[in-house]
Parts: sequence; structure tokens; C-alpha cells
Amino acid sequence: MRKINIAIDGFSSCGKSSTAKIIAKQLGYAYIDTGAMYRAITLYFTEHYINSTDPIAVSHALEKIELKFVPNLQTNQSEIFLNGLNVETEIRKMYIAERVSEVAAIVDVRRNLVAQQQRMGKKKGIVMDGRDIGTMVFPDAELKIFMTADVQVRAERRQKELFEKNELVELHKVIENLKHRDNIDTNRSEGPLRKAQEALEIDTTFITFDEQVDIIMGMALSKIYLD
Ligand code: DC
Repeated sequence: MRKINIAIDGFSSCGKSSTAKIIAKQLGYAYIDTGAMYRAITLYFTEHYINSTDPIAVSHALEKIELKFVPNLQTNQSEIFLNGLNVETEIRKMYIAERVSEVAAIVDVRRNLVAQQQRMGKKKGIVMDGRDIGTMVFPDAELKIFMTADVQVRAERRQKELFEKNELVELHKVIENLKHRDNIDTNRSEGPLRKAQEALEIDTTFITFDEQVDIIMGMALSKIYLD
């Protein structure tokens, strides 16, 4: 059976990662959460007081960072390790969300991570979600999806996720954070969030999770078997 790469891009909290995880599981592919990589770098920069406007400090910091995805055998999901330490829980916290777009806009950071992501996808059989996967990381991905949803709906989903992790954040703060990140992610010079021309756009505001998975699975299977 031929293996393909699937790129899933879109705004924050559209359900990209939960969808990508299921698609990867059903196809027996690896799932790569590129947002987790930007978040882990943000955690390192925060813990080491790296000034993100100082290119030399950024470049030295990047040399000291090793990121790895390690499967958790209990949950069957891969978790991100920063220099040998599991940071999967820490990177999901609000203080990281508040700084991550600023760090993800740094050219050096993007080039470093894009190169790592391209290596991960060389052998195909990858479902990768992010902002620039269909445009920069895998411009030749066989299937490209671009997910959108109303900001209110996205914020409610995000607030629920944070609540489940014992972080209570007011809805207006979550909305502000999402709008702020969307704005920086869309307007940065390197790898801005854009729908790739050939990407299929899915608005998840009014469809259920199962429906969005079914749509993407259908597209994936037709690319695998019929193209
Ligand atoms: O998908 P997420 O919300 O975990 O991503 C966190 C941030 O990382 C997001 O605000 C934008 C940035 N990001 C990016 O710039 N490029 C990617 N490929 C993935 C994430």
C-alpha cells in the first residue's frame, strides 16, 4: 500500500490535533504535533530567560535544545521530551500559549524546526499538524487540509481543555489569546499561516468531531488507493 503525507493546518484550537491523532491511528501512521515543538522551545526560552529579540542568544539556545517524541505506552500517544524531560503537560499551560506565537515568529526558530519536521516526513506515512505544513514543510504532501472554526466555538473548546487540566481561564481571556495568536501567526514574515492552494478547507464550527474525521479519512483513503 502506498504511503502518503497528510498536512493539517489551520487556526489555533480548531481541533487539528485531535483529528490528526485519530487519522494517524486509523491509518497506522505517525502523528507529529508541530505546535508542541514550538511550545517546547518557548518553555526552554522562558526557563532560561532567553531574550527572543537577541539573535545570538536565540541561536545559542537552539544549539542546546534537543526535542524528541516518545510514545507513551499507557495512552498510546506520543509525548514531547525537551532535553530528555517529558514536558507534554507543562507546554499546554496558558503562560506558554501567551508567548508561543512570539517565539514561533523567529526566523531561526522556524528554520530549525522546519528542517527537523522535513526529516521526520522523509519516509512518508506521517500526519502532521501546524500552520505551515502544507505550504513550507511538505509543499508536496499528497493530502492537505485547512481547518477553520468560529473563534467563540474554538475558545469554548480550548477553555474546556484547560479546565480538564485544572486551569481555570475566563472565556474572554481565551478569546483574546486565540485572536492574538491568529494575528501573529497569519502576519509573520517566515512561514505565515496560509491555506495552501490545493488544500481542502473544512469549517468545523457546525460539524461534529466524527464528521470531520470521516471527511478527512475519506479523502486520505482515496489518495492512498485511487490516485
Ligand atoms: O497548534 P498549537 O496551538 O499547539 O501551536 C502553538 C503555536 O505554535 C501557535 O500559536 C503557532 C505556532 N505554530 C507555528 O507557528 N507553526 C506550526 N507549524 C505549529 C505551531
